[in-house]
This record gives sequence, structure tokens and C-alpha cells, in this order.
Amino acid sequence: MNSLTMKKDNCIGVFDSGVGGISELKELVQLLPNENYIYYGDSLHAPYGEKTPEQVFELVNRVVRYLLSQDVKAIVIACNTATSVAVSRLREMYPEISIIGMEPALKKAVSTEKRNKVLVMATPVTLHLEKYRQLQRKLEAQADFVSVECPGLAKRIERGDFEAEDLKMMLRGFLEPYRGTVDNVVLGCTHYPFVKKQIHEILGDLPLIDGGKGTSSQVKRLLEEKNLLNDQSNPGSIRFESSMGTEEEIQNYKNLYDLYEV
Ligand code: DGL
Repeated sequence: MNSLTMKKDNCIGVFDSGVGGISELKELVQLLPNENYIYYGDSLHAPYGEKTPEQVFELVNRVVRYLLSQDVKAIVIACNTATSVAVSRLREMYPEISIIGMEPALKKAVSTEKRNKVLVMATPVTLHLEKYRQLQRKLEAQADFVSVECPGLAKRIERGDFEAEDLKMMLRGFLEPYRGTVDNVVLGCTHYPFVKKQIHEILGDLPLIDGGKGTSSQVKRLLEEKNLLNDQSNPGSIRFESSMGTEEEIQNYKNLYDLYEV
């Protein structure tokens, strides 16, 4: 299907390594409630953030090909890790479709009034790749960034039970050294917004910044430009799918979607 044959009521494909992208899906539905969505979680292969970039690329390309086979009109990579690894290559490979990625929202954490100290939480892959380094370099004149790799955190969030002591202990391990020393926190992985409350418990009432709203606005802009916004007046549909292939996992996605507040 090329962009001329895409229809306004085709779905927007949204995907992540697992449950993380559900936080972005909720933002999208809030801004574009009349759109139809397919949410695909690659939970069988999560986490992406601790694999090699080549492994991540292969997994992501597989999901993109699947979404294209479902005639989606745009693809949202609701995953910072997958975006860092794959977005440029995917745009070259599939020029017919709008592919919208996510990156840690460093720009939003910078202030014109004072030099902020910004803590950036993300997966090891995101923080090691050149894309992130470039982004940070561009803003280094305006703020101080402390990058904290959080291996294991996305995988733990996949398992749910966000009030459990093991999860809180893991977060304390990553964050306690910075208590009282930073002005705000960038959540550079779409899994992390699910544990905002637990992060606040450790760091206090700091602004926690994610790229959710910026990404959904970008999706709206691109669909507008291509005259592909769905103009139906009824609420759209959401179809959840998972590489786990179990009803239990789909129910897990639906529960998280209902629980998450944007
Ligand atoms: N949710 C993802 C991100 O935004 C990836 C987490 C993972 O699979 O490691 O980076």
C-alpha cells in the first residue's frame, strides 16, 4: 500500500518491546480519540534495552513488517530504545509510511531561567548510542545531565505489581544517590511512567518528564499534513496484540491501559 491508497479509517500501529508503549497509546487516544489503533507489544522479546543493536533492529523490523501487513496508515515506535536503534534505517526502508519515534525528552527538561541539573533514566542501549549522545551534546550548554542506566527495570515493570518491595528496592538502587541533587527527571523509556509514584517516593516531588505528549502531537501533525486524520465522530477502536500470543497477556495490556493516567 502506498500513501495514496491509505485511508483515513486505517489503524495507527503503535508498538513497544512490551507494555511500555501503552503509556504512549493512552496519550495518543487522549489527543486523537477518533482514530483506530493496533497496539503490538513484543513482550516475548522484552527487554530490548539490554540486547545488541543488531538484535533489536531485527526484532523491530519484524514488528514493522507485521504492522504494514495490517495496512496501518502510520507507525508509532513507542519505545526510546527501538527508536534509537532503528528509526533512521526504517524510514529509508519504508518511505511510503510515516514512522514516528520517541527519544528522551531532554529539551523539555531545560529551562531558560536557570541551569537545571537533569537526571535522565533510560535503558543501556538508548544511553550508549550516538543518537542520544548527540542530543545531549546539543543541550549541554544549557543544563547539566546525569544519565542513569536502569538495566532490569523495564523487564521488572513488564511483570506488574508496582507496589512490590523488590521493585521499590531496585528503584532505590538507581535513584537514591541523586536524592536532593537534581531539579527534574527525564523518563527516557516508555515503561518508566508506570512507576512515577514510586519514583516520587524516592526523589520527592520533582517534575518527571516524558516524551508522551510531544510524540502524540507529532503524530497528529503528520496525519494532518497527509490528510489522513480520521474524521469519524465516534470513538475509535483499539486492538491489542502481543508476541506472547496469550489471552492473559492481552488482558494485562488492557488492565494497564485502564490504570494509566496521562
Ligand atoms: N520501553 C522501551 C523504551 O522506551 C524499552 C524497554 C526495553 O525493552 O528495554 O526504551
